[in-house]
Amino acid sequence: MAEKMIKVRVPGTSANCGPGFDTIGVACNIYNELELTLKKEPELKIEISGEGAANIPCDSRNIVWRSIHHLLCKANMEKEYQGAHIKMLNAIPLSRGLGSSAAAIVAGLKAANVLIGNQFSRRELLQMGTDLEGHPDNVAPAIFGGFTITVVHEGQPECFSFIPKLSLKLVVAVPEFLLSTRAARSVLPDNVLMKDAVFNISRASLLVAALSRGNKRFLQHAFEDAIHQPYRAKLIPGMYDIIYAAKAAGALGAAMSGAGPCLIAFTIENEVQVGEAMVKVFNQHQINAKYLLLDIDTRGVCIIK
Ligand code: HSE
Repeated sequence: MAEKMIKVRVPGTSANCGPGFDTIGVACNIYNELELTLKKEPELKIEISGEGAANIPCDSRNIVWRSIHHLLCKANMEKEYQGAHIKMLNAIPLSRGLGSSAAAIVAGLKAANVLIGNQFSRRELLQMGTDLEGHPDNVAPAIFGGFTITVVHEGQPECFSFIPKLSLKLVVAVPEFLLSTRAARSVLPDNVLMKDAVFNISRASLLVAALSRGNKRFLQHAFEDAIHQPYRAKLIPGMYDIIYAAKAAGALGAAMSGAGPCLIAFTIENEVQVGEAMVKVFNQHQINAKYLLLDIDTRGVCIIK
């Protein structure tokens, strides 16, 4: 039988969205593409171009391949397909808080799943992706698109996704330096104060309600956080000044994008001014940066060929 090739496209994602630590995420219209052919023989050929190509391993440590292999094992097909030809074209910046590792995982899972006849549902892919990534808030929007809220109950993720009733623009300030999620998680405390928990619960609830109803007035304080950003601020020079500058330039709110170092502003108007203001403050802190003007991706991972 002839070998089958599939090509999928997966969006970048921004996790947390301020108060929704490890819970809320949003998919953005910046994409990686994966072309996958499964091989019967144990040969692995990995070609990567675009963002971060020089820093991604092209052997069995590769996260796309590990995700494919994980799914094949779940389907008891790892002996049938022992190798793969993987071709990645990456636009999502690496290690910046735009979900590059979740994109790699989801692309691998989706493409392999299609090639073995869609044996797993999207919910099962979410379970596998969360197991591989360790937290669900990038994997979920990469699979479902839009804003997602994911709850993990007894190890099993459950995801609700929605498109906000507002034409929200996402302005992402991308500094030149990298920050690994591991490093950004290592500075977090084991426990938080009750008042900080209440601060986040109130804002995360308001955020979801106001986005779903399209009520812009209530979004003014909804992107604030008290349980992870205060601890991570020291890793991103000028972080609170940049968040403040984004709001002063007209954004509804701004936050760390995932574990950083990108910062994301949510706005309905003035997106260029917001982006310029954010980059200017990064520059004032001796950090080179650029900004991306993005929209919400509403599809999640999809087949393109
Ligand atoms: N919720 C995760 C964190 C996202 O903030 O560590 C990492 O992309």
